[in-house]
Amino acid sequence: MSKTATLEFDGKKYEFPVTVGTENEIGIDIKKLRGEAGLITLDPGYKNTGSCESAITFLDGEKGILRYRGYAIEDLAEKADFLEVAYLLIFGELPTKEQLSKFTNDIKEQSHVDEEMKKILDGFPKSAHPMGVLASLTSALIAFNPSSVDVSSEEDMYKAIVKILGKFPVLAAWTLRKKNSLPLNYGDEDLGYVENLHKMMFEKPNKTYKVDKAVIDALDKLLILHADHEQNCSTSTVRMVGSSHAGLFASLSAGISALWGPLHGGANQAVIEMLERIKEDGGDTHKFMQKAKDKEDPFRLMGFGHRVYKNFDPRAKIIKKSADEVLGQLGVEDPVLDIAKGLEKEALEDDYFVKRKLYPNVDFYSGIIYRALGIPVEMFTVMFALGRLPGWIAQWREMRLKKEPIGRPRQIYVGESHREFKPLGSR
Ligand code: SDX
Repeated sequence: MSKTATLEFDGKKYEFPVTVGTENEIGIDIKKLRGEAGLITLDPGYKNTGSCESAITFLDGEKGILRYRGYAIEDLAEKADFLEVAYLLIFGELPTKEQLSKFTNDIKEQSHVDEEMKKILDGFPKSAHPMGVLASLTSALIAFNPSSVDVSSEEDMYKAIVKILGKFPVLAAWTLRKKNSLPLNYGDEDLGYVENLHKMMFEKPNKTYKVDKAVIDALDKLLILHADHEQNCSTSTVRMVGSSHAGLFASLSAGISALWGPLHGGANQAVIEMLERIKEDGGDTHKFMQKAKDKEDPFRLMGFGHRVYKNFDPRAKIIKKSADEVLGQLGVEDPVLDIAKGLEKEALEDDYFVKRKLYPNVDFYSGIIYRALGIPVEMFTVMFALGRLPGWIAQWREMRLKKEPIGRPRQIYVGESHREFKPLGSR
């Protein structure tokens, strides 16, 4: 394979080095393009543009492969628990017992939130979308943890990391409790990370909390499946904001806002709303398939398609199987599961979808499990954020430790050429 790429423009030839990744992905290094050729590249949505070299997550969209630090997502989802995977993503290795115990305890030490934060949460109307509340609370945390901002040493980064891993589940749970008019409580730090999250979300003041282990296992698996996904929209946002050294919490707050969008993490909420709409409309999946293909119709098949996966999203396969298991274990019947399966079957046989390689993505079935676990639909994307938190942290840490430059893309200007100012009276 050649070590350089040649660009010919205006009768001149330019050579650029080629970077080859672990799995033989090839990138043309254009760092010197503008300096040597006076040219820039243009790539709206960065469909062909790599922003960084990263050792955290590998995706093969054609083969439907997803690995965290080299470990297959199928293995991690089956054999690991969420905090183990969080440690793996952030620090690069599966933790030893001692490392996991220290990590867990350091997080527990930080699993309280300043009482004043309740006043900020109080200021939101109950109708506020949890993702907007969570983005705001995450940013507000900075005021109570100023030492988490200027973190250039690994030690200071570690302190900020365990702080947010401890406090984020509290903020997420409080966001739900506020909507349910329940007192803002703490869980029980003798419980595991995921069970404690579930307890904080659902414990009732006048009832003994108990939960089916199947629920915690399902939640743990879903969080693992959402934990990282290389340079997706929200992770790229975290990297971009982090590149200005705005601090970890500010970067995460921006990432939460990016994830909220229905084209990204907000799709899990949009999928259930779409399935409910189809059910209310009589369950005619074929009618909605036609709408999804009609360019004049704004309707899209939410939970379908992906920028990278042009084959099955491996997470969707695991979640689909888990949906059957969890609903069976909990004895939950959900008619929209059959509608989802009907849509998937029809889409996989439909030329429009087959030609465009549109398959179910991580968001297509996840909401069905969240709903079976009693999680309200407006909290689905918060669950995605809880899962993605360690991935965002890992990517932010990698970017800062590599001392990457501030992100500042170029543009091609297509506006007015220079023109003289006209006084108001003469316009
Ligand atoms: C996530 O990047 C990540 O890794 C994200 C994520 C992660 O873990 O971080 O995996 C999580 O965000 C998953 C995606 C969730 N979003 C949705 O389910 C929303 C529905 N999907 C689409 O909006 C779309 O597929 C995107 C946004 C996911 C991808 O958009 P692209 O890559 O920009 O592709 P595109 O919009 O240019 O579509 C290509 C073609 C178009 O048709 P043509 O112009 O070629 O005729 O496919 C069509 C699109 O109209 N198309 C769809 C469709 N998705 C794409 N048509 C109908 N329904 C859809 N869902």
